[in-house]
Amino acid sequence: MDSLIKRYSYTITRNDFVTAGKSSSDIKGNLKAIGIDAKTIRKIAIISYEAEMNIVIHSMGGKLHCDIYEEKIVIVCEDEGPGIPDIDKAMTEGFSTAPENVRELGFGAGMGLPNIKRYSDEFKISSSDNGTIIVVTVLI
Ligand SMILES: Nc1ncnc2c1ncn2[C@@H]1O[C@H](COP(=O)(O)OP(=O)(O)OP(=O)(O)O)[C@@H](O)[C@H]1O
Ligand SMILES: [Mg+2]
Repeated sequence: MDSLIKRYSYTITRNDFVTAGKSSSDIKGNLKAIGIDAKTIRKIAIISYEAEMNIVIHSMGGKLHCDIYEEKIVIVCEDEGPGIPDIDKAMTEGFSTAPENVRELGFGAGMGLPNIKRYSDEFKISSSDNGTIIVVTVLI
């Protein structure tokens, strides 16, 4: 059976570089506390951090959930737009629309989405001008 065991939910605020990264580090601590193996935690930490930062940098804000099942962990992100006009382009390594002030903080390599996909067992993304939804599965 594939029933949800536990959901950790976070609200992500746009342009909030002070608390940015807090959700992914909280998820890391929670997964450790429930005994998830180190390799899986490392994958989820990368995925949730990149997804969280994309919501901070590129969206109007949104939600990030970490869902625990018996045999998988699923990161679900939903944001408030403006969305991604060309997903293929956005998935290309090195493509970034990050503005200069964000690049100065060390973001904008255009590696976030490709890395999320790389560390996932299943990756789904859909986007419209109402927002972007990302569902990433890591098998345990
Ligand atoms: N949630 C989002 N809403 C709108 N656009 C997004 C979102 N996530 C990603 N994008 C678009 O896709 C591009 C590529 O994202 P990706 O995470 O790969 O790179 P980046 O965020 O620009 O740089 P990096 O993640 O390496 O710091 C972004 O520059 C942006 O144009
Ligand atoms: Mg990114």
